[in-house]
Amino acid sequence: MLRIAVLGCGRIGQMHAANVARHARTELAMVYDVHVASAEVVASREGTRVATSAEEVFASKDVDAVLIATATPTHADYIEMAVASGKAAICEKPIDLDLDRVNACAKKIAGTSVPIQLGFNRRFDPGHRAARDAMRAGAIGDLHQVIITSRDPAIPPRAYLEAAGGLLRDMTIHDFDLARFMLGEDPVKEVFAVAGALIDPELGAELNEIDSAMIIMRTQGGKQCHINNSRTAVYGYDQRVELMGSKGMALSDNRKPHEMRTYSATTTEVSAPYQFFFLERYSEAFNAQIDYFVDAVENGTAPEVGFEDGRQALILAEAAYKSLAEGRLVQVSEIA
Ligand SMILES: NC(=O)c1ccc[n+]([C@@H]2O[C@H](COP(=O)([O-])OP(=O)(O)OC[C@H]3O[C@@H](n4cnc5c(N)ncnc54)[C@H](O)[C@@H]3O)[C@@H](O)[C@H]2O)c1
Repeated sequence: MLRIAVLGCGRIGQMHAANVARHARTELAMVYDVHVASAEVVASREGTRVATSAEEVFASKDVDAVLIATATPTHADYIEMAVASGKAAICEKPIDLDLDRVNACAKKIAGTSVPIQLGFNRRFDPGHRAARDAMRAGAIGDLHQVIITSRDPAIPPRAYLEAAGGLLRDMTIHDFDLARFMLGEDPVKEVFAVAGALIDPELGAELNEIDSAMIIMRTQGGKQCHINNSRTAVYGYDQRVELMGSKGMALSDNRKPHEMRTYSATTTEVSAPYQFFFLERYSEAFNAQIDYFVDAVENGTAPEVGFEDGRQALILAEAAYKSLAEGRLVQVSEIA
């Protein structure tokens, strides 16, 4: 059993703590949150104890690994503490909002053999992974295009948006990583973005924030990728990936709670709404990423999605922001 401490007991930390506590191969060693009451609620629900400081967690002989689910500006510090204490870490995205901070962290942990996995859970979604596996097995011939649709059901509260660091670093970062996952060994060469505040124009005026975006990317080998994002899809959480190839297409589609549909004189194909949001839609993925993490730690192998993947996804976000600011196609080499 891998004994994992969960840092951060907020929205996603609570889910991670529950997953770790229930997982067949892990044990929830302890939880920690600067907001002690949040940690206490999770500890009593999951039957574990509350650590009094992050230092206690990293020094504890009862902890083999940490799951970092704290606010984004703390991730790089905690990754550095994990490496210094020799504890494997699985860290939520993004590593940081500032590429310079990510690069400094990379420098500090360079050469470490401590496994660091990034929480890009979508890689572990059964449908997305099956599409990639089918593509890699030759089912669609040569891959030509990757099309990622990623739309949230509702725009988050203003306070969240003020701290999130911008749509492309907070939300699209998942899609940049998913694009890299699908494109495999062929790195993205250039990026073009258009975006705006179409849902809430005040966001643009007051926060210089965007809520709708389209990104076009081309790889060094010439493959094309399109990501489209919206903060509000009124019909629900919309998560689709299409892989277009020379011999066909692989599609990982939206999920519903079940497949029953009703038909009447006035409507056809009426079905249940999509699974509500990321906690529901990606529940299998959040669990599967723990399996892959335990494998990496137990086998002493590099996690399938690591620190450098987090850094590369942020580089693509920065390239897209540069494209937005300058209204032109941006070479990734301008950022990296
Ligand atoms: N993979 C995903 O789909 C996904 C989804 C949501 C959030 N996230 C990421 O997870 C992280 C947390 O997001 P959230 O929505 O749960 O936020 P949240 O605000 O609900 O929770 C963050 C928690 O971290 C705690 N915290 C802050 N600083 C701390 C510190 N120094 N030490 C210990 N605890 C500290 C806060 O008290 C809070 O309880 C963010 O980085 C976010 O980007 C990922």
